[in-house]
Amino acid sequence: MENIVFYFSGTGNSLKVAKAISNELENCDIFSMAKQFSLTKHYDSIGFVYPTYYWGLPKRVIEFIESIDFGNNKDAYYYSIATYGGLAGNTVYQMYELLFNRHGIKLNFGQKLQMFANYVVAYDMSEKIDKITKKSNKKLVPIIDSIKMRKNNNINKLTKAFESMRKEFIEKVSSMDKDFNVNNNCIGCGICKEVCPVKNIEMVNNKPQYKHHCEQCVACIQFCPQKAINYKEITQKRRRYTNPEINYRELSEYNNK
Ligand SMILES: Cc1cc2nc3c(=O)[nH]c(=O)nc-3n(C[C@H](O)[C@H](O)[C@H](O)COP(=O)(O)O)c2cc1C
Ligand code: SF4
Ligand code: SF4
Repeated sequence: MENIVFYFSGTGNSLKVAKAISNELENCDIFSMAKQFSLTKHYDSIGFVYPTYYWGLPKRVIEFIESIDFGNNKDAYYYSIATYGGLAGNTVYQMYELLFNRHGIKLNFGQKLQMFANYVVAYDMSEKIDKITKKSNKKLVPIIDSIKMRKNNNINKLTKAFESMRKEFIEKVSSMDKDFNVNNNCIGCGICKEVCPVKNIEMVNNKPQYKHHCEQCVACIQFCPQKAINYKEITQKRRRYTNPEINYRELSEYNNK
């Protein structure tokens, strides 16, 4: 019996969840949704774990689901977990709709899981990391149990709100890196390049340069040990967050698997 869980993750929350699921299932591989994939084996369960961006799926996750070849796996158990910071909107429903419309696959189980809100560009992230991590770890247990028991649930569209803001985000996200700046505290360590899930960073003269196919996952801002990367003049004084259980080496190893 083989299982597979696909993840997309900027700051490690979604990778942490994918790892926790994989640890509880037999023979469960983990793969990044930043790459293209064709399933050549037969799987018992196929899962997706990803962050919520603007109340929906990250652009790269949409592209992944649109392009994946599921092979001979229409009868697998499909589940989807959206991590989010405060308001998940329609992110689980979007996965349900995309799988069905594109592949005729019915998502068996979909859940959202509140974790630390990492969008440093939009707020100062002043919440207590320990407290939120403990809470989300607790909520993760019954989610994994449901997956192990192959539970089904109903996934409904919740609201039409925010659709225009989301559309605007998806249209402009690739070039949002034009608003990133790198200050003189940069020591040329290359961590930003290593953690970028979509290889949008090149090191030129020991400084990161952006290639304008950004996902706005904020990993480069959050993992930089020097706090040298900022968004406009907004993030300079804000703290940084990465999932306490995922360091940059591990994230980079999984992303490059
Ligand atoms: C560009 C961006 C947009 C986000 N939009 C939302 C949102 O609409 N609703 C929400 O609850 N959280 C939002 N978040 C927070 C993330 O979904 C949340 O922190 C997630 O767990 C991060 O996962 P990761 O560490 O795997 O990248 C956003 C984060 C980013 C970077
Ligand atoms: S992670 Fe920070 S210090 Fe390291 S190269 Fe990137 S910007 Fe410079
Ligand atoms: S450039 Fe930075 S924000 Fe954009 S996808 Fe890469 S790590 Fe994420």
